[in-house]
Amino acid sequence: FLSLRFHLTREKLQEVSERLRKDLIRGLGKHSHHKAPVKMLPTFVRATPDGTEKGDFLALDLGGTNFRVLHVRVMEEQQRVLKMDSQICAIPKEMMQGTGEQLFDHIAACLYDFLLSHNLERETLPLGFTFSFPCEQKEIDKSILIRWTKGFNCSGVEGEDVVKLLKEAIRRRGDYDIGSVAMVNDTVGTMMSCGFRDQSCEIGMIIGTGTNACYMEEMKNVKRVEGEAGRMCINTEWGGFGDDGSLRDIQTEFDVVVDEMSINPGVHTFEKMISGMYLGEIVRLLLVRLTEDGLLFGGRTSKALLTPEAFETKFISEIEEQDNGLENTQKVLSKFGLKWDTVDSCVVRLVCDAISSRSARLCGAALATLANRIRVNRRQERLKTTVGVDGTVYKKHPNFSEELRATVRLLAPKCDITFLVSEDGSGKGAAMVTAVAQRLARQSRLLEESDGETDDEEEEEEEDQ
Ligand code: BGC
Repeated sequence: FLSLRFHLTREKLQEVSERLRKDLIRGLGKHSHHKAPVKMLPTFVRATPDGTEKGDFLALDLGGTNFRVLHVRVMEEQQRVLKMDSQICAIPKEMMQGTGEQLFDHIAACLYDFLLSHNLERETLPLGFTFSFPCEQKEIDKSILIRWTKGFNCSGVEGEDVVKLLKEAIRRRGDYDIGSVAMVNDTVGTMMSCGFRDQSCEIGMIIGTGTNACYMEEMKNVKRVEGEAGRMCINTEWGGFGDDGSLRDIQTEFDVVVDEMSINPGVHTFEKMISGMYLGEIVRLLLVRLTEDGLLFGGRTSKALLTPEAFETKFISEIEEQDNGLENTQKVLSKFGLKWDTVDSCVVRLVCDAISSRSARLCGAALATLANRIRVNRRQERLKTTVGVDGTVYKKHPNFSEELRATVRLLAPKCDITFLVSEDGSGKGAAMVTAVAQRLARQSRLLEESDGETDDEEEEEEEDQ
């Protein structure tokens, strides 16, 4: 039953990768992008770090259940990004689904508290804002929210410029001001912070509460932004893959229920088969079905097992642990008030494995699509590249990363990929984006100055003659 519904063969994964390849092209196209399920959003990040960036920055990070403010120092000498200090503000569930004004007032208040307690309220440090939702970016500091994901649903924000909402909230308070703002998706932050350590890092990937990836695309293929030269980082928003029904053949009835019960039915199909916000719920639904069919726990469910979202994704990681897995399984089942025997606990482990493996292999297929695209873009026989990765599912699950890598090797055999786990990429990466932008500005100023000098010299020569 499990292998029939959840196992994806190599051929199927190849098909999925091929479908995504076509969707990437649709998302990039000038006339096809507005209908494309994979949005392929330009980020206005035109370069990865070269290791000479430096300076002090503020960073804001909103994307999960917490909001964070950070003071970050980028140090050229040791190529290190130091988190000087940070502060977490919880976002209560009611606020995640309240009004946008409440949310941004809360953010502005947290930022003020942080500035005050660190004596930074009179400095105007550049600010990087990691906002991990799909945004149509018009410029680095103009970013319009397309839609909320991952349990957020604040009114009056979709279709609005997030920087404007933040600035308005600060203005409403009237007690402080902020400098220039750079808006960043968490995938971009991850790629940029890993890119400071390893300059061949050109893909960023998140597999946590949600899932997504970004990569460096050739400007000539980014039809929605003027200019042909160089590259730009594209936020793929691959979570939306399948929103046009293209993954119906691999969706199970459990995926359909998860989608229908979510606060955003019909969108982020791929994400709902993969990320931490949903994996536990898929497992729970499957356990309920197997119990009702008399295949588990003597046919008796429990109140806890019948409670939506009660089975957390972190249980999957605990259950699949190599050494203590069986013991952990039994603890979880007892906590759920279920009457289990050893066979039951082994079956539960198999269920978790089926769901997490499918997730890892789907992610692997998607990552292979990106790597293959970069290789073909650059007309290289072999591609050597680095992927910066973050997210609890990737980091905490005992064999997720191994399975993901095996799938990438299978589907992108001409790509040698190094995986770099990011340490707080969402926080530090926003600062890195700002630091790279400043470095580019510095370099172009220097170039102008030296052009100026050459012109002068030429003039002098002319005068001599
Ligand atoms: C969002 C992305 C984000 C990802 C990982 C998704 O739900 O749409 O923008 O990068 O989650 O946090």
